[in-house]
Amino acid sequence: MLYRKILRPLLFKLPPETAHEMALHTLSLALGTETLRRLASKRFERRLFGDLRRFGLNFANPVGLAAGFDKNGLVARQMAALGFGFIEVGTVTHIPQPGNSQPRLFRLPLDRALINRQGFNNEGAAALVEHLKSERPGCVLGINIGKSRAVELEDATGDYLASFRVVRPLADYVTINVSSPNTPNLRELQRADRLSALLSELQSANREAAAETARAPVPLLVKVSPDLSTGELEMIVDVSRRAGVSGIIATNTTTSRTDLNTPAPQVAACGEGGLSGAPLRLRSTRMIAQLRRLTRGSMEVIGVGGIFSAADAWEKICAGASLVQLYTGLIYEGAGVARDINEGLAEIIHRQGFPSLDDAVGCRAEELAAA
Ligand SMILES: Cc1cc2nc3c(=O)[nH]c(=O)nc-3n(C[C@H](O)[C@H](O)[C@H](O)COP(=O)(O)O)c2cc1C
Repeated sequence: MLYRKILRPLLFKLPPETAHEMALHTLSLALGTETLRRLASKRFERRLFGDLRRFGLNFANPVGLAAGFDKNGLVARQMAALGFGFIEVGTVTHIPQPGNSQPRLFRLPLDRALINRQGFNNEGAAALVEHLKSERPGCVLGINIGKSRAVELEDATGDYLASFRVVRPLADYVTINVSSPNTPNLRELQRADRLSALLSELQSANREAAAETARAPVPLLVKVSPDLSTGELEMIVDVSRRAGVSGIIATNTTTSRTDLNTPAPQVAACGEGGLSGAPLRLRSTRMIAQLRRLTRGSMEVIGVGGIFSAADAWEKICAGASLVQLYTGLIYEGAGVARDINEGLAEIIHRQGFPSLDDAVGCRAEELAAA
């Protein structure tokens, strides 16, 4: 309430990227010490879901912070203290890069949406690892890697491998981002031949490193675009399954601009980029349901796109997501969003008579896939 009535109107007067920088600094200071973080997390530490075991990891709750908010791993511990069950940092690239020129982030309040074309602005994989060594969150940590802009598509595998080797020792899971619309041609890596080559090289490196360190291979996840056809999605599931991928994150932002409430000239003035938030919700839910159908539960699906409330998260779980993530919801709902969604979800599960969250995963997949 305080956020929506007072803080959000003030923050929304600032350019979006300035507000983001301010939020990172404020979080860093306000929850800068272990004592303050413990005080903050006291409010969120109720165990509402029992143990959630996914790809060999235990999650305290199913609501994660999506990639892009904390690209350089600067506030992962602070975000965990706000009640997120897992934090995905990045996207990082092997070569540090400034990203696209500003402005590159836009708000569409009438649609509860954002458009961004940041283009993987980040300090690089090595710097991320340096920050996280002393700032590791006390929850599951995912690290999302992408292709450096300066590297040609043909050389993408070597570039991903270089990042993978740097981040693997610190990551609980690694996400292979092949779906951002803001790096030229990146989404070409979703094609069967390219994806298959990329994943098999990454898994070889993964197995080798595991053998050397007497540690299990780290779970690999693939993040997909919401703009894929059913045929393309089918192929990605097939390739991912054969490569031993642990899960699919559905979805990244969309390049579509259909059915928006914001006047068309205002949308056009934002220019190119990925649209996130409420307009993405159903598109992403439908894809999750299709993935549930295609994988028949053999791979975990992490649902992301337009989650603002417990009802939105519940819809993703019913479609087949066994974990969810959000980014835009945090901008519109504020720091309490993970706590509110977790409490609401526990209530919905109880009210609907499911013995556990796991029993609800995919319960409406058929209906939602066809919607
Ligand atoms: C400003 C912004 C930056 C993002 N950067 C990344 C990124 O670096 N890597 C990535 O995989 N996804 C990135 N995303 C996509 C989100 O992780 C998420 O998949 C998408 O926004 C849909 O979820 P949402 O509707 O809850 O925001 C970004 C999203 C936004 C809004």
